Amino acid sequence: MAKRQMHLVAFLMTSPSSHHHGAWRHPESDIDQMMRPERWEHIARVLEAGKFDALFFADLNGLYDLFEGRFDTMVGKGGQICLLDPTVLLPIMARVTRHIGLGLTYSTTFHHPFGAARMLATLDHMSNGRVAWNVVTSASVVEARNYGITDMPDKATRYDRADEVLEACCALWDSWEDGALLFDKANGDFADPSKVRYADYEGRWIRTRGPLGTPRSPQGRPVIMQAGSSERGREFGARWGELVFTLQHEKSDMQAFYQDFKGRMGTYGRSPESCAILPSIDVVIGETESIARERAAYVNSLVDTRLGMAQMSGHLGTDLSRFDPGQPLSDLPTEFGSKGSLDVILQGSRRESLTLGEAARRFATSELCPQVVGTPEQVADHFCDLFLDHACDGFILTPTLFPGMYEQFCRAVVPILQKRGVFRREYTGDTLRANLQG
Ligand SMILES: Cc1cc2nc3c(=O)[nH]c(=O)nc-3n(C[C@H](O)[C@H](O)[C@H](O)COP(=O)(O)O)c2cc1C
Repeated sequence: MAKRQMHLVAFLMTSPSSHHHGAWRHPESDIDQMMRPERWEHIARVLEAGKFDALFFADLNGLYDLFEGRFDTMVGKGGQICLLDPTVLLPIMARVTRHIGLGLTYSTTFHHPFGAARMLATLDHMSNGRVAWNVVTSASVVEARNYGITDMPDKATRYDRADEVLEACCALWDSWEDGALLFDKANGDFADPSKVRYADYEGRWIRTRGPLGTPRSPQGRPVIMQAGSSERGREFGARWGELVFTLQHEKSDMQAFYQDFKGRMGTYGRSPESCAILPSIDVVIGETESIARERAAYVNSLVDTRLGMAQMSGHLGTDLSRFDPGQPLSDLPTEFGSKGSLDVILQGSRRESLTLGEAARRFATSELCPQVVGTPEQVADHFCDLFLDHACDGFILTPTLFPGMYEQFCRAVVPILQKRGVFRREYTGDTLRANLQG
């Protein structure tokens, strides 16, 4: 039986900061190139040379402006502000690569399935079957306002609606059968209409008639990515997800999530192997451990306390400028400790008696992701330990230096993983889905 293979996905944003708010200020960062297509072509080539399963763009359709009631710190200091539309970047990256999967984030709350299905099917054609859709329901009010939504539906409703959006998209993607296109010049038969049908989808929120204008794409439907961690989010992921991202620090928590999630998939008639679970992780690599530690300390020193507070304000939905950064976290109202994943840092920080400013700096170094610091061997050891103990099926890597971290990782860590037989040496499938299963 073939040895179980690790999956690697790169986390990209069209924003100065992704998870590490200091990385863009590093002297080796290519931040001044970010509005140029060559930057995105380059990173796609690097990741494909490293045989990554996929890259994907996380996305936010709005500017956080809760901190001091303004977006000045977010814009001025380079927070998570997504400057470009990934639907336009992916075809650029598709044209300089042949194998790597290409994912984008698209909200089921803001977009109608007809447009989403058409755009994703087109991208799947233009990339020869390499597209993935990171399905998000979007919780942020700043995004909702940009789409004219003043009353954001609650989480349960957003996920119920997301189920309908995906059902409708599938009905649209299935409205053309394989082989419908004939291109028969001699007889003048362009397509076989008996292989095209209406979608006729009617749900509680969503209606669409179809058929889709776009013929069936190489993958039939894009690979579905998802990152729900709540009870309802996990159910949604267990039904639809093929690549699921998580955010945990402890191996035991990762294993518990892994067991729980794979168990839920059975309810939907799915085998556990049809979805890969990938914790998000930051990596800082050095030729020696002490060089790696110095590198991490250096890049971590580049974060801005106020930007950390502004970004946290956006995630928490409250204006943290009302509090003194020198104030112990334990003096803050306790409701801040009850917002899902932010519990991780707030509780940890309370235990360590950090001030708000110190907690904000820590938040700004990774947005709560674990940071692995070490030599290529040490990083590979860490990855293998989690992978082989079924804490995960691979990792989603977020940049601590762009593009340098990915270049180092592909050059130094990937060959070790390959030598240990846990990561592909070559792509074997024709599509992203085939490579994920291969
Ligand atoms: C690695 C990772 C990447 C994510 N990327 C996005 C994103 O690009 N856009 C977004 O709106 N939410 C993003 N999320 C948030 C998730 O979609 C989800 O809302 C969150 O994990 C909380 O889960 P829940 O909705 O089940 O509570 C991301 C989460 C993780 C862990």
